[in-house]
Formats: sequence, structure tokens, C-alpha cells
Amino acid sequence: MTTHIIALGGSLLRPEEAEQRTQWFGQLRQLAVHLEGNGRRLGIVVGGGLPAREGITLARQSFSEPYRLDTVGIAATRLNATILQQSLLDTGCNVCPIIPNSTEEAADLLTEHNFVIMGGTSPGHTTDAVAVALARDCGAPHCVIATNVTHVHDSDPRLNDDAKPIEEMTLTELARITGTEPLEPGESAAVDPVAVKWAIEANVKLAVLDGRNLSLLEDAIEGRPFVGTLVRTE
Ligand code: UTP
Repeated sequence: MTTHIIALGGSLLRPEEAEQRTQWFGQLRQLAVHLEGNGRRLGIVVGGGLPAREGITLARQSFSEPYRLDTVGIAATRLNATILQQSLLDTGCNVCPIIPNSTEEAADLLTEHNFVIMGGTSPGHTTDAVAVALARDCGAPHCVIATNVTHVHDSDPRLNDDAKPIEEMTLTELARITGTEPLEPGESAAVDPVAVKWAIEANVKLAVLDGRNLSLLEDAIEGRPFVGTLVRTE
């Protein structure tokens, strides 16, 4: 059995888009069955998406300390992780019934279960960083970051129409784009700077791809060429 770690952006759960949401969940369940059949184990770290943004905005009415806002964000990631875990349990796959609180606990559970689903762990980073830490703790050589952009770009495509997609780069080059400062609670970026820093420290390769198209995720997990950005360790 080989273990793969995925950061699944919370925006992919898209509660706001009913039709695509049903399709996407169905495809994810199919992919899980297929991957289990191929001897793959998966650690999936789910982002907070809409509930995280809404929760943090609501909480800001009452308090502003970043670690407290992060705690609200973490609760949203665990909510989304629970939704995904319960959805995957219906497939009959060996899905862990616990949502672990730490990457060490998750790595341990991955020795007994083919699917371990978790959310955030502690303040100061996003679920991208949790996924990199889980890859490190499991000894997985790479971590897939499934998000809602096709590639890492040379500048922010939301602000710059001329931003160019990058197909291959090193972690050091990625760190130049993301910077090294942690994000604000609820702030989003193509890849969390803390995740990049931890990937450099632990020598974890990254694959950044558009998780709305689950065949790209399957390509990356199966070790085939995939559409997205491959981030080498050097
Ligand atoms: P996400 O991991 O969802 O942020 O965490 P994201 O990557 O920007 O968004 P999506 O969902 O993948 O699109 C949401 C918030 O939860 C807190 C942070 O405040 C983060 O911005 N968080 C999450 C933590 O503090 N620690 C964690 O381990 C995870």
C-alpha cells in the first residue's frame, strides 16, 4: 500500500453550487473506491471554504485576536472534514471513523485505515500546511494541493490579467512568489507560505492542481503527468 496526502481546498465543497456539488461528491466517492482497489492509502486534509469565511467574518464582530479567529476557522475545516468523511463512509471503503486532531495521530491512523480525513490542527497556518506536515509524518514523498486554480501563477491572477501559469518550479522559487509571512485568519493564497516553508524543511514535493476536475487528482496520485504545477524540492 502506498500513502498519498492531499490538501483538499474547502472551496471545492461548494455548498453554493448544488448541481456541481452533487456530481463532485459522487466522482470523489468513485475515485476513492478505485484508489482503494489500486492499493492506495489517502490522508485527506480538508479546508474550511465558505463556512470558514463566514465564521471568521461573524467572529470579527466580537473579537480580533488572530489565534481566536483561527480557532473559528479550524472548527469550519473540521465541519467540512466530517461531511467528507461521512460521505466516503457510504462507499464501504476502509474510512477512519475518527477526525484526528494532529498529524501525528493521523499518521498513526493511516497504518490501520485506507482513508483518514482531517481538518486543521492549530492556529497560525492553513490546511495546506497541515497536509505538508502529514506528508512529513507519514514519510510520503509528496503532497497534492487540490485547489480552485489550475496552476501556481507568476503573479496573482485575481489581480493581474497577464499572470502566467507555471508548470514546473522549485520550492525555493515558490517561496519567492508566496513570501514567507503567515496569512491572516481566513486570508487565501494559491499556496500557504507556511506550507511552503515546511515543505522545504521536510523535503516534500508539491503538486498544485485544480481539484474541481478530479481526473487531475487521480493523474497526480497515480504518478502520471498531470495538468497543474509540479513543485520540485530543488
Ligand atoms: P483553510 O485551510 O480552509 O484556508 O483554513 P484556505 O486554504 O485559505 O482556504 P480553502 O478552504 O482551502 O479554500 C481556514 C482558516 O482556518 C484557520 C485559519 O484562520 C485559516 O485561514 N486554520 C486552518 C488554522 O488556524 N489552522 C489550521 O490548521 C487550519
